[in-house]
Amino acid sequence: MELVVEGRAFVKGKLSNWGIGIEDGKIAALGKSLRGDEKLDCRHMLILPAAIDPHVHFRDPGLTAKEDFATGTLAAACGGVGCVLDMPNTLPPAVGLRDLMEKKEAIARKAWVDYGLFAGCVPGGKLEPMAPHVIGFKMFMGSSTGKLLVTEEKDMLRIGRAVSGTGKVLSVHTEDEALIGTEAERDLRDHLRNRPSAAEVSAIRKLPSLGCRTNVCHVSSLDGLRAAEELKLDKEVTAHHMFLDRDSEHGAFAKVNPPLRTEQDRLALLQAFIAGRIEMLGSDHAPHTLEDKEQEFSAAPSGMPGVETQVPLMLALVKKGMLPLDVLVRAMAERPAELFGLNKGRIEVGRDADLMIVDTRTMGGIKVNNLHSKCGWTLYEGFDAIFPHATMVRGSVVVEDGSVVGERAGRDVVA
Ligand code: DOR
Ligand code: ZN
Repeated sequence: MELVVEGRAFVKGKLSNWGIGIEDGKIAALGKSLRGDEKLDCRHMLILPAAIDPHVHFRDPGLTAKEDFATGTLAAACGGVGCVLDMPNTLPPAVGLRDLMEKKEAIARKAWVDYGLFAGCVPGGKLEPMAPHVIGFKMFMGSSTGKLLVTEEKDMLRIGRAVSGTGKVLSVHTEDEALIGTEAERDLRDHLRNRPSAAEVSAIRKLPSLGCRTNVCHVSSLDGLRAAEELKLDKEVTAHHMFLDRDSEHGAFAKVNPPLRTEQDRLALLQAFIAGRIEMLGSDHAPHTLEDKEQEFSAAPSGMPGVETQVPLMLALVKKGMLPLDVLVRAMAERPAELFGLNKGRIEVGRDADLMIVDTRTMGGIKVNNLHSKCGWTLYEGFDAIFPHATMVRGSVVVEDGSVVGERAGRDVVA
């Protein structure tokens, strides 16, 4: 065995002492006393599958003053994420084969962790040629950052049919554009008034008619959650919809789509997540610059960073006894791997050796200066968090204690 990592590992649904044997980037053996050329002693640590973030916006190409694939994936690695799935609202948007392949070329060799790309769906777009190159498709039913928007039922149905033929997943921004208001906005409450939960419910209710596998991105309201549960749809939830609400004092920095809602919505989502009723944790990492966000409320773009902080925030909840570890592992790793067909997400023989090594004694407040996104701000300053001691991607340690130790060997999971 090239490498054996020893410690309390999350294997087959529970923690116990294991040696994890790694060869050629894959988990080759699990045993109590494995021999290896090299040993990594993590006996006082937890070893978890690295997280898979099914929803990030890394802004590369075209908007790299906000983020690029190097800074975005480094932030991911420092937050325990070993694989990210990147959204298509880059510049130019990844909505056609040529732009998609150019995006792949632009980001190649920049990534610290593995990644997959979504292709965007637009009316009249050709989806089939992109299918072999993407992890899934993304459709915006409500407008947000970028110009990807599908509002006509006939376009949605055509997209659903096309995606169904590819066998891929359609991740959907579920806000119904027809129910989004356009009143002037001065603050988070105005933003919420314009984007009510009824818009979320209406969009979610349309998904079954699309006839393809769908994933509700960032479910944000109690009513939206109920609708998605009734229809048995997969869903993501963000940390910001579980930790922050419309009474946040961060003004435009907390402007996001779907919006931060009421405390009641927030607590319902947090409770549902803790109960294991929300399939995936997805950051919707949407970095905008300080200058973008310092504009007056109505002019500031929507979105906030989160890829580096979401797992550390959740690990703190685990440590406090509020969140079962198996629920977190399921939502941050196992289910995203299952839904998107990745050979990752579990500590199991044959899977990629993507691991997160956690010292649960290291809980501390989040400090923006320790984060790695290019945007340089966070809404979680001072929040309790446990950052992983190290993140390993296919058997190589990429970051240790917030510093780079490995190489930029992140690969496109679809190639
Ligand atoms: O707030 C958001 N920001 N929502 C989105 O759907 C897109 C994202 C972005 O890319 O900035
Ligand atoms: Zn998004």
